[in-house]
Amino acid sequence: MRELCVVILLVLLGDFAAAADAVPLSALDLSQMSSGWSVPKANANIMGKALSIRDKKFAMGIGTHASSRLRLQLGQNALRFRSVIGIDDSAGGQGSVQFRVFADRQLVFHSGTVTGKSPAQRIDLDIAGVDLLELVVDDNGDGSANDHADWADAKLTLRDDKRLPQALAPFETIDLKTASFHLRFVVGDDRRLYQAPICAAEEQLPPSRNQVAYPQGGDGYVWEPALQVVHADGDRSTSLRFVDVERTGLEDEREQVRIRLQDDVYPLQVDLYFRLDPARDVIEEWRHIHNQGEGKIALERMASTSWLFDAPDLHLLHFHGDWADEMNPIAEKLTPGVKSIASLLGTRATQFVAPSFVLSLDGPPQEQQGRVIAGSLAWSGNFQAAFEHNGSQVRALCGVHPFGSTYYLDAGEGFQTPTMIWVSSNRGLGEMSRKFHRWARKHGIRDGDKPRDTLLNNWEATGFDFDQQRIEGLLPPAAEVGFELFLLDDGWFGDKYPRVNDRAGLGDWRPNPKRFPDGMEPIAQSAIEQGMRFGIWIEPEMVNPQSVLYEQHPDWVIRQPHRDLDYQRTQLVLDLTRPEVQQFERSAIQETLKTRGVSCVKWDANRYVTQPGSAYLPSNQQTHLWIDYTNNLYQLMQQTAREFPQTELMLCAGGGGRVDYGALRYFHEFWPSDNTDAVRRVALQWDYSYFFPAISICSHTSEMGNHPLHFATAVSMSARLGMDIDLAELSAEEIATCRSAIAAYKKFRDVIHLGDLHRIESPHDGARSVVNFVSPEKERAILFAYQLKSGARRVVKPQGLDPQKSYRLFERHPQSGRPPVAAEGQSMRGHEWMEQGVRLSTSAAIQATILEFTANEAT
Ligand code: GLA
Repeated sequence: MRELCVVILLVLLGDFAAAADAVPLSALDLSQMSSGWSVPKANANIMGKALSIRDKKFAMGIGTHASSRLRLQLGQNALRFRSVIGIDDSAGGQGSVQFRVFADRQLVFHSGTVTGKSPAQRIDLDIAGVDLLELVVDDNGDGSANDHADWADAKLTLRDDKRLPQALAPFETIDLKTASFHLRFVVGDDRRLYQAPICAAEEQLPPSRNQVAYPQGGDGYVWEPALQVVHADGDRSTSLRFVDVERTGLEDEREQVRIRLQDDVYPLQVDLYFRLDPARDVIEEWRHIHNQGEGKIALERMASTSWLFDAPDLHLLHFHGDWADEMNPIAEKLTPGVKSIASLLGTRATQFVAPSFVLSLDGPPQEQQGRVIAGSLAWSGNFQAAFEHNGSQVRALCGVHPFGSTYYLDAGEGFQTPTMIWVSSNRGLGEMSRKFHRWARKHGIRDGDKPRDTLLNNWEATGFDFDQQRIEGLLPPAAEVGFELFLLDDGWFGDKYPRVNDRAGLGDWRPNPKRFPDGMEPIAQSAIEQGMRFGIWIEPEMVNPQSVLYEQHPDWVIRQPHRDLDYQRTQLVLDLTRPEVQQFERSAIQETLKTRGVSCVKWDANRYVTQPGSAYLPSNQQTHLWIDYTNNLYQLMQQTAREFPQTELMLCAGGGGRVDYGALRYFHEFWPSDNTDAVRRVALQWDYSYFFPAISICSHTSEMGNHPLHFATAVSMSARLGMDIDLAELSAEEIATCRSAIAAYKKFRDVIHLGDLHRIESPHDGARSVVNFVSPEKERAILFAYQLKSGARRVVKPQGLDPQKSYRLFERHPQSGRPPVAAEGQSMRGHEWMEQGVRLSTSAAIQATILEFTANEAT
């Protein structure tokens, strides 16, 4: 009867074509229709029960779930599309979606926001002459929970009801979502994979060719490609088409997504991998390129990522520096052209340029507001992050540096790119860093949930000038002031060429018998007996020409056979592409680490590559050196971490030469700089903290800069506290300062190591720098105020406290002779402390104040 009415209506509407009965949409093959949860249901809601919108039941229609898409090839055979739309009652009044209908890619209906409480809407569309009809339901930008969407009573009136519309594969979208971030890929009608540009005001469908997700050289893409392949026949074009997507749930609520692409002519497969950590707003990303053919192919470019931004006003915060002056920030607006931050040092990524940066989407980056996305490439070798601005959009291409790195794949071989880590925040750099830190403690560094011991290192105190007796002498005062770990630095090894300066001994990893006649075990045991752990320094990748190793194996070093050797610190890099070198380094590490009592190792690498050349690699594979070095190094690091799971590993490369998440996943912490001047460290730690949590940043108090010891210790206490100092040279008052610092630190280090960081006053902006850390439960907060120049006595305002909790204030590690803060012992609610702040007792230069806010019930 109802169908009859429609026919009558159509006739009344004046369509005199031979209109047939309306066909219920639910009678079509729905197997191609997509749904964000479960599968679309014919004549039932997504739960399989009766369709129902605001208590009205519908016998016919389709129940689906955002995001959902149905594409129908109508072949110009349809006249009208009618439906009643709304969120199904099974959502219990929850959910919010948007319904859209496209006719031949033109938007012909848009519901606006439809919530679980909105009344049903009726659609009646003239689609005469339309070839492609698309029915789309998307979430309302707030996640897709409860988005049960009904196309109730949906019907198509056809001219000829013998010719049913054909359901096509949906215009497939692949959505990668984290708490505040959404990356969308779209499969085009040409089966290419496109990326919806980040920040685009509107979704462009179909996507333009410029939006191709992983641009390939030779496929009509006229900008810098992410992938350049030379096929076995010399052809330089690649044209990848979408094959499928696979989503796998991982532990910790993470998800891995693999999007498979395949060249439409050549036997080449490229998988785009993503690992999503929705709660922490982190996306890790890498590529796997697979040569499925019979011949050899060459990869000339193989970026890890190539995100596209529709933000012509994008700002880039990046970091540059030098030895002992790492990590200087600079923020700039990207302008048309290519801005490239890159490094070609071979054995390390950082020092001059960091492989970590921030893209700010709303103008210059700010601490507390604006959308920002941090990127960090997990790679310790040559890298490039190139930002190509084409006048309206920016493409970020990050990965191994393509320079001199052509990589050949034989039949059946694959290549995996380094991982790119992206962290997103809608509330500025502060929130971005806290997310990064939470992710890093969980997935980026080892044992990120275990606070670190305080440590004394002998390097700044003794340099190379020590023997067992001198080191023995350092132990009792170290134990007495409260250290928990003693780390013996460079200079303990070498026999024929003893390591008594930096010109000899590297490579000969046997204890120097003159300095340690019974090996290293006695000194390790001595430390243990005095209540400390014992750590040791190694530099397994290097050799001094004055060494037995070099005498025996001059061909084991990276060099160019007809060039004079270029030394840095009188040393050369061993060629890790050579299996014997891998084996040698592995046993050197094993021998050192298995010394009884050794439970910590500082792994150093004091030079980079300036003469790339390998006597091991064949002449047509010399370009593999850069990449193979780093991958083999990771294998060595991974073996070490696996074989010595209880040994703490500190990452060092002549200061901050290897500060990246590629190496850090095998390490507990890193040495950020050979510059231990406390004033410089305030800024350095601030800038590293954009990406790295305090638990991973070694901060050793030393005499460098000659600053008051109270200030220097307070700076170290805001990261992983250590000291590089000769305790025997200190006055009684200075010893008391060290003792007070260590004792206070032990009481609150869990807040520094495991809590949330709030950067409050930047050392780059004024006379003072302030940061505070808040424990995960917001029970405690530790605030550090560093007066860098003398200035006005302004109050400091903590951040991140629970506004309703009341906190009592205590000054910790007070400077002797200085009155405590006036508010010492007072209690107020979190919001009052945050609004009113605390007036400090000093504003004199190079003085520090440490405040603890303790929730009253926790005292
Ligand atoms: C590098 C490190 C220092 C120290 C020396 C030892 O420079 O950064 O901390 O270990 O090597 O040679």
